[in-house]
Amino acid sequence: MISSALFTGFLLASSASARPTKRGTGEIKCPIILNGFVPADLTPTDFDSYATSPFNPDYIRGSEKFSEILQFPEVESSRFDNESTRAVEVTINDKSIFQKQNGFRRAGLQIQGDTNENGPGTTGVRTLHFSVKQDPERTLNLTHEYLNVWHESADYSANQFNFQSGTIIGKSGSDKNNFKILNRQNTQVWSTPIDATAWQNFAITLDFVKNTLQVYYSKNDEPLKAVTEALQNDNSGGGQYQIGILKKPTGTSDVVNSGYQETGINEGQIYGGIFLEDSADGCISL
Ligand SMILES: *[C@@H]1O[C@H](CO)[C@@H](O)[C@H](O)[C@H]1NC(C)=O
Ligand SMILES: *[C@@H]1O[C@H](CO)[C@@H](O)[C@H](O)[C@H]1NC(C)=O
Repeated sequence: MISSALFTGFLLASSASARPTKRGTGEIKCPIILNGFVPADLTPTDFDSYATSPFNPDYIRGSEKFSEILQFPEVESSRFDNESTRAVEVTINDKSIFQKQNGFRRAGLQIQGDTNENGPGTTGVRTLHFSVKQDPERTLNLTHEYLNVWHESADYSANQFNFQSGTIIGKSGSDKNNFKILNRQNTQVWSTPIDATAWQNFAITLDFVKNTLQVYYSKNDEPLKAVTEALQNDNSGGGQYQIGILKKPTGTSDVVNSGYQETGINEGQIYGGIFLEDSADGCISL
C-alpha cells in the first residue's frame, strides 16, 4: 500500500522535476549592471513586492498584479539561464490597460534599479541580453504591431531602439512574421523570422559615448554572433529598458488612445536570461 505521505512526496517530487534542468552554456563575462534573472524558487506573489521581485512590482501593468500577469512555463533554460534561474512569460488580456492608454494592451518588466533619470543603464557602453520563446497556447496576433523590448527616453518622446514583431503600422515592407530591430529613427536595422519553438537570443549593445547600436543573435544554446556593425544611433535622452508586450491597435492614427483591439485576447511572450552588462573595453558575453 502506498501511504498518503509517500504519495504526496511522489507528487511533489514529480512536480519539482517537471522543469527540464538542462541549462544553457552561456557564460557571463562582464559585470552585470541590471539583473533581470528570475530565481527559480520565487513564487508568483513574490513579483508583487519590491523586496522579492527582480522587477518593479508596480510598472508596467494595468489593475492586475504581476502575480496574475506572469506565467512560469516549464521550458528548457535559455542560453544564460541555469538550474537556479528560470524563464518568465509576460501575458496580456483585455484588462491589460496601463494608466489611460486605452489603445494598447500592455504589460512589461522593468528591472529594479533601472531608474528613468540618470540610470545606470544609460552611461558608458551597455549590452542588454534577452532570450525569447513562443508559447503555443498564447500566440501573438501578427496582424497587430507589437513592441516587445525597447529603451524609452526619459521624457517618453522617443525610443533609442525597438525590438518588435507583427505588422509595423505604416511600413508596408516589413514582414509581420519577423522579429525586427529598429533604430531611433524607426528604421529597421535587422530582422529574423520568429521561430515557433526555439529559444532566440538577442543582445543589443548601446554605446552612450559613441552613439552606436549593435545587434547580436543566436538560437537555442549557440553562441551569439554580431549580425550588424556598430551602427550610428542617437542614444541620448536617458530613460528605461522595457521588456514585455505592448500590442498596438489597428485602424487608428492615435494608437495610444483609440483603435481596435479584439476582446478575449490571451497572449504571451516568454523571456529568459534578462540582464544588462557593462560592455566597456569591448566586453560582451556571447
Ligand atoms: C545562475 O545564474 C545566476 C545569474 O547569472 C548566477 O547569479 C548564479 O550564480 C548561477 N548559478 C549557478 C549554480 O551557476
Ligand atoms: C487578429 O487581429 C485582427 C485585428 O484585430 C482580428 O480581426 C483577427 O480576428 C485576429 N486574428 C486572430 C486569429 O485572433
